[in-house]
Amino acid sequence: MPENGKFETYGKVKSASDFYDELSEDYMDMIEFSSKVESESEIFKTIVSEYKITRCLDAGCGVGLHSIILSKLGVEVLGIDISASMIEKARELAQRFGVSAEFEVLDFSLIKEKYKEKFELVLCIGNTLPHLINEKDLLIALRNFYNALVPNGILIAQILNYDKIMENEERIVNVRETPERIFVRFYDFEPTIVGSPSLKVFEIRKDFLKFNVLIVDKTKNYSHKLITTRIKPIKSEDLCRKLRMVGFKEIEIFGDFLKREFKANESKNIVVFARKT
Ligand SMILES: C[S@@+](CC[C@H](N)C(=O)[O-])C[C@H]1O[C@@H](n2cnc3c(N)ncnc32)[C@H](O)[C@@H]1O
Repeated sequence: MPENGKFETYGKVKSASDFYDELSEDYMDMIEFSSKVESESEIFKTIVSEYKITRCLDAGCGVGLHSIILSKLGVEVLGIDISASMIEKARELAQRFGVSAEFEVLDFSLIKEKYKEKFELVLCIGNTLPHLINEKDLLIALRNFYNALVPNGILIAQILNYDKIMENEERIVNVRETPERIFVRFYDFEPTIVGSPSLKVFEIRKDFLKFNVLIVDKTKNYSHKLITTRIKPIKSEDLCRKLRMVGFKEIEIFGDFLKREFKANESKNIVVFARKT
């Protein structure tokens, strides 16, 4: 570490909303927002035409990348997110891109009756679902997504491939460098010992990961901050099982949005298309 480098935040585990409130200023840079608006547009064009999408709920929209892409394609979009700062950025960016997507600060557990059967597509991508660290919250969110869909509507969910990440204990998620900054996203594995001391039976469970973002500012003598939250990895089978539990029927699992085959030990992502029938 350079002599003048300073720790702004170190190691403290934040809630998802605090974590993303703090990350919101840097998020655009971290995900290469501007280039992705262009590069991901084709994929969503295909999805919009294949599923005849006119209204979409972008659940966990962050700074609104996919809300903006879909709006540019003529879809009416509502982006929701638990982080007020991310929503503020999303509104700014939508204005900058001249699109009319709407945004609301809203926890998935509070998607209300007013959004019942409103959307042909619910999009929940960018590895959002693992932020629901409580099993019950995950099920409530999936059920609320189901209810927000019109009959025959489609949920597209994308998370990282935790089948592979957990098997290999892969710690580095992503490293990116811009002229000003370096972003390192990485995990700490958090084994928990569960069991009975009297029976001397123990099990080591790896239910949670700490998800860290280290941001190094090269323009300020490599000063840096580390922001941390806790996530719950979801494996492919578990995700499909939970989708079935809340009522989804045609559940297909792929390795990417182009519907290439999902390979548990190779694919980077788990992409699920699930239909409300
Ligand atoms: C990894 S980001 C993905 C953002 C965006 N979908 C993308 O692909 O760039 C996850 C987002 O989900 C939001 N989020 C996490 N838990 C949530 C919840 N319970 N309700 C609503 N939003 C939530 C976070 O605030 C964050 O903006």
